[in-house]
Parts: sequence; C-alpha cells; structure tokens
Amino acid sequence: MKHIDVKELFFNSENYKNKSVTVCGWVRTWRDSKAISFIELNDGTCLRNVQLIIEKDKVEENSVKLALAVGTALCVIGDFVPSERNGYEISVKEITVLGECPTDYPLQKKHHTLEFLRTIPHLRPRTRYFEAVFAVRNELSYAIHKYFHEHGYKYMHTPILTGSDCEGAGEMFRVTTQPWDAKYKTEQEYYDGDFFGTKASLTVSGQLEGEIAAMGLGKIYTFGPTFRAEHSNTTRHAAEFWHIEPEVCFADLHDIIEIAEDFIKSIIKDVINNCSEELAFFSERAEKGLIDKLNSVISSDFAKVTYTEAVEILKKSGKEFKFPVEWGCDLQTEHEKYLTEEYFGKPLFVTDYPADIKSFYMKLNPDGKTVAATDLLMPGVGEIIGCSEREADLDKLKAAMQKRDMSLDAYTEYLDTRKFGSVPHSGFGLGLERILMYITGVQNIRDTLLYPRTVGSL
Ligand code: 4AD
Repeated sequence: MKHIDVKELFFNSENYKNKSVTVCGWVRTWRDSKAISFIELNDGTCLRNVQLIIEKDKVEENSVKLALAVGTALCVIGDFVPSERNGYEISVKEITVLGECPTDYPLQKKHHTLEFLRTIPHLRPRTRYFEAVFAVRNELSYAIHKYFHEHGYKYMHTPILTGSDCEGAGEMFRVTTQPWDAKYKTEQEYYDGDFFGTKASLTVSGQLEGEIAAMGLGKIYTFGPTFRAEHSNTTRHAAEFWHIEPEVCFADLHDIIEIAEDFIKSIIKDVINNCSEELAFFSERAEKGLIDKLNSVISSDFAKVTYTEAVEILKKSGKEFKFPVEWGCDLQTEHEKYLTEEYFGKPLFVTDYPADIKSFYMKLNPDGKTVAATDLLMPGVGEIIGCSEREADLDKLKAAMQKRDMSLDAYTEYLDTRKFGSVPHSGFGLGLERILMYITGVQNIRDTLLYPRTVGSL
C-alpha cells in the first residue's frame, strides 16, 4: 500500500506542501459539525497526529460515517496544506476504511491511567504514552549499538539456554521438555531423560560467555534478554529484561568505570538529540524537570565513593533506616536513595564492596576483604549498572569458588581462560529498562516493556 509516514510529512513538510498525499493510520479523536468533520490520525511513526479536514460534500458519505469512530484504521488521500492551527493538515478527497472499530474499543478517552493500560497490553502501543516509551526505547537501543560499534566492540550473541548456574546472580527459570513423573527416584534420573540430558535453565547473564569471547576478541558486548526468577515484586524488577554487557580485556576497575560513565552520557545525549518530542512529553506526563536533569547528567562528573565511606556517611546521616547499616551489609534501596538523591544528588559509583556480598568472579582487592566492583546508582531508579574487574588469577578464582561451594568441574572452560594467557579484564551489566526509566521518568518497569513478565503475571 503506497503511502507516506506521518513523521516524514511533518519532518520534510516542504516536500509535500500543497501536494496530494496518501496516509494511513488509526483515528485518535474526531469531531463533527454539519458540513465538516475533523479527525486526528496517528500512524505510530511519530507522536504527532495529522489533522484530517473532511468537507462532507466532497467525500463519499458512507466512508465518512464509518471513519468517525475512535480506533478505526483508515487510508486517506488528500492535499497536504498549510494551516494556521496545526502547521499542516490534510484536506481529504477520499477515505478507505481499512478496519472498522466498534464502540467496545477500550481506548475511547484521551487519557487512561497506566494501571488500566496494564490490563490491556496489546492495545498500549496505540496510546501516546506508549508510543513515546517505545520510541525512546528504540532510540536508546540504537544508541547503545552505535556506541559500541563506534568504539570497536564486537556484538556477541551469547546463549540464552544454559547448563550452568552462571554466576549466582539470581534465581533461575528451569527449562524442560518432560513432565515430572513420580517414577523418577532422583533429580539426576529426571534430568538424564530430558532434552539436554542435564538440568537446563534460562540465563541470568551473558557475562561468563562474554568473558570467554573477550579473551580472544579483546572487547565485546552482549545485548539480549536475560531472566531472573526472584520473587521481587517491585517497580524495578522484571523476570525478563534486556541486558547490555560489555567485557573489556586489558582494563582494570578504573578503566571500566570511565567507559561506563562515557557510555551512559553518550547514549543519553543521543536520546536528547533524537527524541525531543518524546522527552518534552515525558517532562509533562512523567517527571517535571526531566530534560534539565538529563542535561545536567551529561555535563557533570558522576560521583564516586567507596562502600566503606558510604557506610560511614549512612551511619552519620542521622536518618532512621528500616535496615540498620553495618559494614558488610548489602545496601538497601533506602540507603541507595539517601546516598544518590540526598547526599550526592547525582549519579554515583559505589566501589569496593565486601567480597562476601558479591559474586565469585570479582577481583579480590589487596586488603583481602573487598572486591574491585562497583554499582552505578542513579537518583530515582537506584542501581542501573553492576560492574567489576574480574579475578584474573587462577588460584584466587578457584579459592573464591571453593569458598562458595561451587563445583570447579562445571567451570573448567571458564577457568581455562585464566590458565591460558590470563589478562586483567573488566565488564559491566546495564538493564535496558532501568536506564529507560531514568531517561523517561517512567516510574514502573511494567510500563517499559511490551509484555512485562513479573511474579504472577505472564
Ligand atoms: O548486578 P547484576 O545482577 O550483574 C550481572 O548480572 C553481571 N553479570 C553484570 C556484568 O558484570 N556483566 O545485573 C546488572 C544489571 C543491574 O544493574 C540492573 O540494571 C539490571 O541488570 N537488572 C535488572 N533489571 C530489571 N529487572 C531485574 N530483575 C534486574 N536484575 C538486574
């Protein structure tokens, strides 16, 4: 069906001025008077609707009658003419109704609550809010690929099905093709007859395979779905989220922190440059002052504090935290909030966490107690990046695994990377939805995904 995108019409309007154009889309709103009808048509290519002016005596009567219903899909031919109110509008000559829309279409009102829209995920892309979310999500994904491509990283596709517990980053979803049967005496007997002949799961992270690729290709990144089965029913946790994980050889913690900051600023800059309408929309609908916030993030340095210093700051804060703070404890949301929103008031790298609360693969610091790891905390959304220098020393890595009762046999290939030509290397993981929440001001991760998967909701 030959037609012109509404975005193209508005962005290159001079090319179409006073010419006959064909556009397609869905009716967002309509008004009717005796001689003229007005339709706001949206085709999803940009936030803006194109206004259709229908002089009733010039257009076939029945097609006009059918077109005047919210949600109806139309193909329209008309002249693209300048207008005082709308910049441009289409003076309609012909309407073809592609799909009628009965009155039980749930999106009759101009605004619906996000809670209500979550009950109809299949229709959310037809709303302005979700058009904006998915436009920014798209631009952000492109900016991420662009950054790594321009900096010489190779994009790796790491497996989603995995036989290893990866890194203990989170609870895993099991994958099986065979039903449970009481005839199995042991777990092993059950898995022996399964598709892979062993226990299989959905990966929580592509990092370990990413490290294997980087230990030959120098620097790589992954960008794919990962899965977490924790029962964390919060506004920031999804069971399926998109994970960006660069892995860089010949880089220590300081190098990777520099890369992470440069990367975050670069992708935010790209979104500011390419999504101005969407960001203006979100600063009205989701977070006042959003654009100023983003501009200030890209123009100032992120703060840095060690975990040990952070604990001291929290203890001296005079705040009554629900979870008391002691050296060795995991920082809770309330602690992260205080540090990044009240104390530092900007994005914050917390570094050098106690080894006991972090993963086995993180490089042990000379103090023997802490690891060369950092979390990047953002005001409003908390942790968006988990990052570390990896333990490159084979004996220390084995010791860290044994301390956690991990089976070395299950990791022989991973350990080989330390046995054969080990090098210092570092990497991080960024949750796409978390940075999207930060950039748009969207408060709930359920509103950043087409079909969010969360506890009890598939
Ligand atoms: O801190 P995490 O668990 O780190 C890893 O998985 C490492 N393997 C990363 C690496 O070094 N390559 O997760 C990294 C990031 C978090 O900071 C957060 O942004 C996101 O992944 N994330 C989630 N996002 C949405 N829902 C969840 N349930 C998430 N869990 C983690």
